[in-house]
Amino acid sequence: MKKLLSLSLILATSGLLFASDGAEELANQKCGSCHLMGAITKEKLDRMVAPPYWAIAKKVKQSSDDKEAAVKFIVDYTLNPTQEKTLFPKETIEKFGIMPSQKGLVTEDEIKLIAEYILEKKAF
Ligand code: HEC
Repeated sequence: MKKLLSLSLILATSGLLFASDGAEELANQKCGSCHLMGAITKEKLDRMVAPPYWAIAKKVKQSSDDKEAAVKFIVDYTLNPTQEKTLFPKETIEKFGIMPSQKGLVTEDEIKLIAEYILEKKAF
């Protein structure tokens, strides 16, 4: 009986882990070619072509009233990025340019998952 209990515990925990890995993997796969994920290494910094996720999360949080508004902003920006909408200063845009629209490359539901993941994940 005890054995059965611990087995179901393991299964439950690995299910949880899998759920968070799903969003991380999606974020990596869809946006990671430009936005840095995980620990910053020198090699990653050398090929940086966009602000890292933590910088985005910080900016969006500062300018949104609540989490719902923050997710909405990220979804909209990812599909329709413009110079007027960007929260980044002129220097950032001069360095990286405006993000190309990801329309057709990622669905709205996928962006929502990614947005929640980057807003919640604190240390990266
Ligand atoms: C081809 C490179 C590239 C890809 C792929 C990319 N981005 Fe970006 N993204 C950028 C650049 C460059 C910026 C900074 C300039 C700007 O704000 O437009 C940026 C900025 C952003 C911002 C910040 C907007 C703001 O003003 O605060 C968000 C949010 C964002 N990206 C989300 C995403 C998401 C989500 C994905 C994946 C679905 C993604 N990006 C994929 C290049 C990219």
